[in-house]
Formats: sequence, C-alpha cells, structure tokens
Amino acid sequence: MELVHRPRRLRDGETIRRMCRETRISADSLIYPIFVDEVLSGKREIESLPGQYQYGLDCVEQAIAECIEAGVKSCILFGIPAHKDAHGSSAWDPEGVIQKAIHKIKAAYPDFYVVTDVCMCEYTDHGHCGALCDYKVDNDATLELLCKVAVSHAHAGADMVAPSDMMDGRVAAIRHALDEAGYKNVPIMAYSAKYASAFYGPFRSAAGSAPSFGDRRGYQMDPHNRKEAMKECQLDVEEGADIIMVKPALSYLDIIRECSDAFDVPMAAYSVSGEYAMIKAAAQAGLVDEYRIMCESALSIFRAGANILITYYAKELAAAIQRGDVG
Ligand code: PBG
Repeated sequence: MELVHRPRRLRDGETIRRMCRETRISADSLIYPIFVDEVLSGKREIESLPGQYQYGLDCVEQAIAECIEAGVKSCILFGIPAHKDAHGSSAWDPEGVIQKAIHKIKAAYPDFYVVTDVCMCEYTDHGHCGALCDYKVDNDATLELLCKVAVSHAHAGADMVAPSDMMDGRVAAIRHALDEAGYKNVPIMAYSAKYASAFYGPFRSAAGSAPSFGDRRGYQMDPHNRKEAMKECQLDVEEGADIIMVKPALSYLDIIRECSDAFDVPMAAYSVSGEYAMIKAAAQAGLVDEYRIMCESALSIFRAGANILITYYAKELAAAIQRGDVG
C-alpha cells in the first residue's frame, strides 16, 4: 500500500519515541505539600490520604530529607495549629506552627525552597477562609489578616507565599505589604482560578479545615465557569502575581490550557487531595495500575500547559522521571 504519511514510523522503538516527545517534565517543576501539626510528636498517616502524613515540629526535617532524597526541591506547607479563634490569629503568630516549621527547615536545609499556603481556614474556629461578618466572609477585613500572615511567613524565611483564600484584591494587598516590610523579592504564587470543588474533601479532614457551616461557594469559583477563570488570572497578573495557578487540575485541564496560553507568567496546577485519593483507592481495589496512572495524570497536566505541579505524588513522580518512565 502506498502511504506517504505513516505516523507509526516515529513510534517504532523507545529511542525514537523519546526523541519526538512533545512534552517534557522534570522533577524541578514539582512541589510537595506537607502538613505540619503543632501538637503532634512524630508523624501520623492521614486516613483520607493513604501514604501521606502529618508531621510534628520535631520531625518536619525528616519530610524535607525524604524530598531531597527523591529529587524534589520544593514544598508547600500547611499548618494545623494548636489553637483556633474567630480571626485565625495563630496564622500570623511569630511562634505559630508554620513560622516554627520554616525556621526548622531552613536551619537544616537552607537551600530547600519553601512555599507557604496563605489562608485562614485552618486557623479559624469556623473553618472559613477569612473573617466573618453576618455569617459571610468579609473580603476587605480578611485582606488585612492575609497581609499579616504573608509578612510573618516571609519574616520566618519562606521563599514564596501562595494565597489560597480567593478574596478579591488579595494579591495587590499582599504585594504591597511584603514590599513595605522589605520583602520585595519574595514572589507570590496566586491560587488564581480556584474552584469550589468536592475534590478538596480529603484535604479538609487532613488539615481540619472543613467549614463548620455553609460552604465556600461565596468566594471560590463556580465550576461551570471558564471566562471567569480568565478574569481571575488577569486580575492576579495585574495585581502583581508572579505565578498563577489553576486548582484542581485534572477536571480543569481546559482552564489550564486556556490560561497558560493567555498569560505570560508561569502556570502552576494543583493536583488536589481528591485526585490523589481516587487513584489510591482505585489502585488499592486492584482496578488500575497506580504507577502508570500517576505518570499519565501528571503528564496530562503539563501537556495542558502547566509549568509547575503541586502534587502528593511529587516524590514518586520524581523517581519515575529519573527512571525515564515519564518525562
Ligand atoms: C486552603 C486550601 C485548601 C486546599 C489548598 N489550600 C482547601 C480548601 O480550599 O478547602 C486544598 C488542597 C487539596 O485538596 O489537596 N484554603
């Protein structure tokens, strides 16, 4: 048969397939989420996220050592504080759980890149992402709290802050506060298009941050919307975000593609707790090959246009990339 085009020629063997790969991924682009519990000693497996742990302040360095060993160079920290109150004041306590964790990590591994999640939901007794006024989150009052949190993280030595609260104007407010406090060079990775998603379920039990009433739809985005994601990204870029993010990842690959095409800043994607937990559960039930699904899912997020991936599989992925199974 006379065929000019035979795409199979470029699939005939591992060497040529690898030569022609359109998407390349590297362990340099991975960020590993770490939960630090102020009252815990040692580490405890998280029931809703098999294979993931909450770390006590006495062993948070161990979590970093494991990342470095695997080839992962960056983490994002989430705190589980001993005390919560209406305003989440332990979030900006210089002796708070995240501030102490940063000190410990930086003392042991000064070059390890530490990102912090800036939000109130783990610190407020009502579990919402800001200060309340009549059972609603008060946007402008919350901005002041977020600024204090971001500055206190930078002061403790965080390399980058990542606001995940979805308040309007928070990137501009945090940029201004960081600059005023002398942290001009601390970048902001904004959770720009963060959807009100059921995929956060396992995280909320891991971080003890489920809202005690209502839900987050008054501030996080409606999953039906695409243009609104563009608007959120645009606002964050204008306000000074250095990196923008889409979250969750797998059900929002269209949004990652569109926003990464439209904006000239690096695009991060957060493959969230529910995405991880679903793969784990399916694998444990013997239904899928966990390793291959992990590789293929991560790859699809980069193919959609992400440059950075936050994932609970960061260490296993780094190993898979090193082995050449993906990347
Ligand atoms: C804090 C925050 C959440 C996640 C990251 N930062 C939870 C939420 O918005 O309810 C979710 C991460 C995950 O599910 O892995 N606001």
